[in-house]
Amino acid sequence: MKVSVRVNGHDMTADVEDRMLLVHFLRDVAGLTATNVGCDTTSCGACTVLLDGESVKSCTVLAAQADGRAVTTVEGLAGNGEMHPVQRAFHEQHGLQCGFCTPGMVMAIVSLLRENPHPTEEQVRAGLEGNLCRCTGYHNIVRAALAAAEVAS
Ligand code: FES
Ligand code: FES
Repeated sequence: MKVSVRVNGHDMTADVEDRMLLVHFLRDVAGLTATNVGCDTTSCGACTVLLDGESVKSCTVLAAQADGRAVTTVEGLAGNGEMHPVQRAFHEQHGLQCGFCTPGMVMAIVSLLRENPHPTEEQVRAGLEGNLCRCTGYHNIVRAALAAAEVAS
């Protein structure tokens, strides 16, 4: 089927299989490989992107379901050569180790801070419960989320 998706501000149209997952559309059709597949069973959150501004696990969304909608991946966050505040906070707070979970964590935190610009540490931890870090670097990831909230306030 033909799908048209606005990806990081650019309109894309492609013929895809009906069963194609959004994460595979992003990686294999759009060529945006920052969004990772860690499990494909909705467990790890490595594939988190924004769909019309809401965070979703793109391994549980069909490309067809994104037809006519807007997707933002981590590649679409920076603007004018400037990192997004959440990206900068990850850098400054050492919020990553191997980096595999990082794109999904960043997108989940962007969504979290849009919904709740001033979260407590407990609210950040609860908001990230769908995102797993196999390096177990949660402490600095939470610090990065809180630092980004501080900058934005
Ligand atoms: S790859 Fe989507 S939740 Fe793990
Ligand atoms: S930094 Fe390695 S999985 Fe999170």
